[in-house]
Amino acid sequence: MDGQNKIIIGAYWGDEGKGKIVDLLASEADWVVRFNGGDNAGHTIVANGKEVVLHVLPSGVVQGRNAAIGPDVFFNPKSFFADYESVIKAGFKISGRILIDERAHVIMPYHTAMDAGGGATEQLGTTKRGIGPVAKDKASRTEDITVSDLVGTGFKEKLNAVVAAKANELIGNRITTAAELNKYANEIYMQYVRYANELKKYVGSCAYELNEALASGKSLLLEGAQATLLDIVHGTRPFVTSSNCTAGGAAANLGIDIRKFRIIAVAKAYPTRVGEGSFPTELGNYEDAKKERKGETLTAAEKKKAIDGDLPLLGKWIRQDGREFGATTGRPRRTGFPDFVALRYSGMINGADEWAITKIDVLSGKPFKAAVAYEKDGKKTTRFPFKLEGWKPVYGRKEYFWPPMDENEKMAAVQKGYDALPQGMKEYVKDLAISTGAPVSMVSIGPEREMTVVKDALKRTAEYLK
Ligand code: IMP
Repeated sequence: MDGQNKIIIGAYWGDEGKGKIVDLLASEADWVVRFNGGDNAGHTIVANGKEVVLHVLPSGVVQGRNAAIGPDVFFNPKSFFADYESVIKAGFKISGRILIDERAHVIMPYHTAMDAGGGATEQLGTTKRGIGPVAKDKASRTEDITVSDLVGTGFKEKLNAVVAAKANELIGNRITTAAELNKYANEIYMQYVRYANELKKYVGSCAYELNEALASGKSLLLEGAQATLLDIVHGTRPFVTSSNCTAGGAAANLGIDIRKFRIIAVAKAYPTRVGEGSFPTELGNYEDAKKERKGETLTAAEKKKAIDGDLPLLGKWIRQDGREFGATTGRPRRTGFPDFVALRYSGMINGADEWAITKIDVLSGKPFKAAVAYEKDGKKTTRFPFKLEGWKPVYGRKEYFWPPMDENEKMAAVQKGYDALPQGMKEYVKDLAISTGAPVSMVSIGPEREMTVVKDALKRTAEYLK
């Protein structure tokens, strides 16, 4: 796969561990590119024993790759500088180039204030980073501020015009008052003009730079934020984000030719979901999950109960072992059994060439099933319904199980390759590949970069499909 261009996307509702896969592949890439989302995403990378969480910067920067932020990214300058600092603080050097697309839209303080202020979108359970409001302004074409506006000479006038146009909205949402409107605009200006001065040197055109890079044989790695089921078009609307999270979306928004890319869909071994919305294979329920704190442990008796079929407890066990608490918001994530209906859909929407399965070690020692169809009112389907409400999972007959692997077994599997993985795990990987019609190129068995089984994975899992 060396030298090949790749698109990495998430297959479920985000938090699949894409950061680790990107980090793993970044050393082969000349450019690592964020193509969607904003600082609502948090990509966690564990490298050299250090954990770095990035919200805007592509994960590849820690490896000194050139990093680009595409035009469909909602760009929060404050988070950009925070990312930059956290990379330096963790001891990494930023030696590659950074390119921020001039067409990207800037998240302004009123966007975050509106997102945090409740209102009609409260029920969506957003990350409160201003994503919906900035996307609305982008679509308006008249009340938007692009990166180009931000670093241009007319920024002050543009900002004043936008604040004036939004006056009713800002006052109605109690973000400012009529009397303070000018002062409010000026405060934002003072803050953002400082960002602008720092950012100028990074601003350019991704379409030109990346196409030129492709033409000269350089390799690109496109890193998606969120995931297919959160895509604004193909996701579980209205409980979705406001950008395109799919491989096709990456190509369209960057202005590059998708035929030049291999598409790697990242499926966490079990789905998780933050925020509201239907979740057919959910274990337990969101209300109970919300009460949980990171780091709670299950007693031996509770684990036994979970193994014996207490599904809410199993869900809690997965959440705790998988550290399923938001990198951006700290919110507990809902956990569920694997869902082949959803994965088949995601594989199709993205044209996935291969799967990377992450966090499979979290399922070690836990018996589980996988959904192969849904049913509702006596009707059965293997399609992923647009309106998910009320659909219940139909599980396959098989129960998957393998005992926990110790560190030696994990190291041995990394070195020997796919065949050395536990039998029960391979059964699951095989069924995932067959259900979705795509082979598996990577199986992640621990958070560290090294703990990934790549050797023979693609070959063996392609054999399942013959
Ligand atoms: P927003 O993107 O902040 O508007 O949130 C819309 C929905 O997408 C909510 O359900 C969020 O929890 C979800 N969401 C946004 N970003 C992420 C992410 O990076 N991982 C998982 N869920 C996300």
